[in-house]
Amino acid sequence: MKFLLNPQDRDPEFVSLFKLTFTQSEGAAEGDLIGGLVTALLADTPKDDIHTVAAEMDGTLVAACILTELLFKNDNRCVFLLAPVAVIPEHQGKGIGQQLISYGLDVMRKGDVDVVMTYGDPSFYSKVGFEWVAEADAPPPYALQFPQGWLRLCLSGQPWSALKGPSTCVGAFSNPALW
Ligand SMILES: CC(C)(COP(=O)(O)OP(=O)(O)OC[C@H]1O[C@@H](n2cnc3c(N)ncnc32)[C@H](O)[C@@H]1OP(=O)(O)O)[C@@H](O)C(=O)NCCC(=O)NCCS
Repeated sequence: MKFLLNPQDRDPEFVSLFKLTFTQSEGAAEGDLIGGLVTALLADTPKDDIHTVAAEMDGTLVAACILTELLFKNDNRCVFLLAPVAVIPEHQGKGIGQQLISYGLDVMRKGDVDVVMTYGDPSFYSKVGFEWVAEADAPPPYALQFPQGWLRLCLSGQPWSALKGPSTCVGAFSNPALW
């Protein structure tokens, strides 16, 4: 397996991977929502504000995640949002998701990112070091439907302190249904 950073000319493969994975795990509506999100993220996000990370096997993408900037207006730390993440169904549960995220976090560390946030299942993301954070201590861009899934990971080596919002996500995430 090979890990790729910002692979060029593979946007349609990214979109299919996310759409298929989320359709299988959570149904057609969620597959469409996440497929649309990934299409917009790849098309509309300024290049400095997005990193795409993927795992490839025999020339085919089997897992991917996207990292985009999350700006906290009154805080000078650099923060990125890790979302969405997908491993194709036939390769789930083999450690690929954790390896992919660890690779993405190394990229963030090398880019001097201070904090990575994510929004998902704490029992999975805690395996790669994420910890739950209250909305008051890292104000999300929109009200959260699942506040228990709001998670943070400090990369800077500095002790954690609350992020001072309000926060702004990249344009493709500006949809309350995603939060
Ligand atoms: C969630 C997902 C990215 C995990 O990737 P993966 O390669 O299957 O996971 P890994 O094999 O690296 O790790 C699995 C471990 O996390 C745990 N885990 C917790 N929540 C999980 C979840 N929702 N899905 C899979 N594993 C989960 C498993 O129990 C397992 O623990 P173990 O190693 O102690 O047995 C992948 O299953 C996926 O794409 N699911 C569908 C899409 C999705 O839900 N994405 C958003 C994630 S919030």
